[in-house]
Amino acid sequence: MTETNQSPVTEFVLLGLSNSQELQSFLFVIFSVFYLAILLGNFLIILTVTSDSRLHTSMYFLLANLSFIDICVASFATPKMIADFLVEHKTISFEACLAQIFFVHLFAGGEMVLLVSMAYDRYVAICKPLHYLTIMNWRVCVTLVLVPWCVGFIHTTSQLAFAVNLPFCGPNQVDSFFCDLPLVTKLACIDTYVVSLLIVADSGFLSMSSFLLLVVSYTVILITVRNRSSAGMAKARSTLTAHITVVTLFFGPCIFIYVWPFSGYSVDKVLAVLYTIFTPILNPVIYTLRNKEVKTAMLKLKSRYLKPGQISAVIRNILFLETK
Ligand SMILES: *[C@@H]1O[C@H](CO)[C@@H](O)[C@H](O)[C@H]1NC(C)=O
Repeated sequence: MTETNQSPVTEFVLLGLSNSQELQSFLFVIFSVFYLAILLGNFLIILTVTSDSRLHTSMYFLLANLSFIDICVASFATPKMIADFLVEHKTISFEACLAQIFFVHLFAGGEMVLLVSMAYDRYVAICKPLHYLTIMNWRVCVTLVLVPWCVGFIHTTSQLAFAVNLPFCGPNQVDSFFCDLPLVTKLACIDTYVVSLLIVADSGFLSMSSFLLLVVSYTVILITVRNRSSAGMAKARSTLTAHITVVTLFFGPCIFIYVWPFSGYSVDKVLAVLYTIFTPILNPVIYTLRNKEVKTAMLKLKSRYLKPGQISAVIRNILFLETK
């Protein structure tokens, strides 16, 4: 085979969310604030759960692990996207592009299965309340955390195997703010129909089967809750509403992107913002604002580390308003 003037692609160009310069400065501010909120909110949940021994139960461990994975989902692409709002020519090296593909499938796949773990935990708590503590022992709890990471890892390695050997020879514009498989395979210079089908089958299988498991477990739980009516069940119902909101917000975009991957790519771009930025923000909001135990534990944490008036004193010091 002779060398043509088409050199192999060493970097990709990310088209980003928008090409209007004014809009980009605006998005820079908005997304920076969102990203800080994601970090703060989720670190606060992890800190609260680990420091309060009354929250050392499987439900809260899973919640803290969800916060951790939310930080991961929000961090593999968002900081680069935010920095990219400031530059006109947004590029990413071939290796970094593969790394983004690897991490998005590891974290998003892991989060899907972790949501199933959380649903299973609620199922045992509500449908088998007398056996809850014996079923959810330490080993089961650790398993419920490890399985999502293993499934995520297997899923992402199998996805990457399809992409890593694709030949790229010319087109290198990725119409999104991070590299993901459907967009990158489209740029390869061979017919990628079969590869695209395999990718859809792989991602589609994971998201649809986790989604079905979730629908089944929440249906069983809801039927159980409906047939009982006590104060405890009212609490169970509000926990459930929180879980179902998170599940819908996370799975809606993922299933749309992967099960109909040949839809408009600009729609996919907006949907990708939903699961990389909005779900990680919403999880802490949904779980903490609705949960009395978490709120109480946070107040305790605050009074332990910050004495009354201390915050305002710190702020006054920072602003040099303290008069000597
Ligand atoms: C995740 O879950 C494990 C096992 O339940 C727990 O030991 C660990 O503290 C949790 N991780 C976080 C970040 O809370």
